[in-house]
Amino acid sequence: MLKKIFSGVQPTGNLHLGNYLGAIKNFVSLNNDNENKCIFCVVDLHAVTVSQDPKILKNNIRETVATFLASGIDPKKSIIFNQSQVSAHSEAAWILSCIARMGWLNRMTQFKEKAGKDKEKASVGLYSYPVLMAADILLYDTTHVPVGNDQKQHLELCRDIAQKFNNDFKVNDFFKIPEPLIQKEFSRIMSLKDGLKKMSKSELSDLGRINLTDEKDQISNKIKKAKTDSLPIPSKVEELNNRPEARNLLSIYASLTNLSLEKSIQKFSGKNFSEFKEILSQILIEKINPISIEIKKLLNEKKYLDKILLEGCKEADSLASKKIKKIHDIVGF
Ligand code: AMP
Ligand code: TRP
Repeated sequence: MLKKIFSGVQPTGNLHLGNYLGAIKNFVSLNNDNENKCIFCVVDLHAVTVSQDPKILKNNIRETVATFLASGIDPKKSIIFNQSQVSAHSEAAWILSCIARMGWLNRMTQFKEKAGKDKEKASVGLYSYPVLMAADILLYDTTHVPVGNDQKQHLELCRDIAQKFNNDFKVNDFFKIPEPLIQKEFSRIMSLKDGLKKMSKSELSDLGRINLTDEKDQISNKIKKAKTDSLPIPSKVEELNNRPEARNLLSIYASLTNLSLEKSIQKFSGKNFSEFKEILSQILIEKINPISIEIKKLLNEKKYLDKILLEGCKEADSLASKKIKKIHDIVGF
């Protein structure tokens, strides 16, 4: 069956191992399957829901494209573009915001986390962020959305919005109801400093994450300093239940080597973490360093990156503008 894939990454800098293992690695294998039509979007409209320095944002947009390419996404097979350049996204987001209910958005945990204690001071955009995400997905008749686990709730909201629009206007099947593609074991890579917090771009200490542009010695230094406990590596997955840092490091190993968590544990059972960390560092360097070198090379080829975006925008715009015309018609504009 032909799958229509859509996913987005915010150009907010510091793309890290969590983004790679939770999302981008999956994009690459979907891109390689000729049965799929893939669209990968640099979601710059989402990025400005919190304040951004305009010059840095411009660079981060190119860096996100460079990361897609360096990780192995082929722009001849997939559409790569930035959201702000296809106006149908903003327009559809407005219309869908009249379909989504306040009660639905009030349940979104990401808003609560990002807005923190002072909700009154959060931007309105940060609150309606998941509606824009629904617009991104629904404009392209997307069937599957590869994301990390943190986006699961937003996808459920997208499905509710699509269903309500179809029901309200009696246009059964107009918006396709998309399925999430979330990797089971490795959908949430945690901070190297705290196994209960997800690895994130915004964590103040750089020691919590492996950036995709880190040098070899930074990678091994961060793994050396990564938090663990004093017990050796167990023999069963269940024994990791109360050991979040140990589980995280072993999950990273498993995901990088395409082994199950269970097999990875069996391989190192009884060994202590200092020995395991050395092997993990080597594998990380082997996988991440070539990507890092390629990102840095591509960042010197601004014209090439801009050309990819321009071509991607044309293709995306031609698809999205057809859908938005139909939306106008249905709504009665
Ligand atoms: P963002 O950087 O928030 O735009 O996220 C881009 C993609 O990376 C989304 O699919 C996220 O779900 C995924 N992602 C972000 N952080 C992590 C993490 N720590 N573990 C797994 N996936 C993640
Ligand atoms: N909200 C997603 C994130 O922060 C990014 C995103 C925006 C997205 N639009 C999307 C992901 C559409 C999948 C599909 O990770």
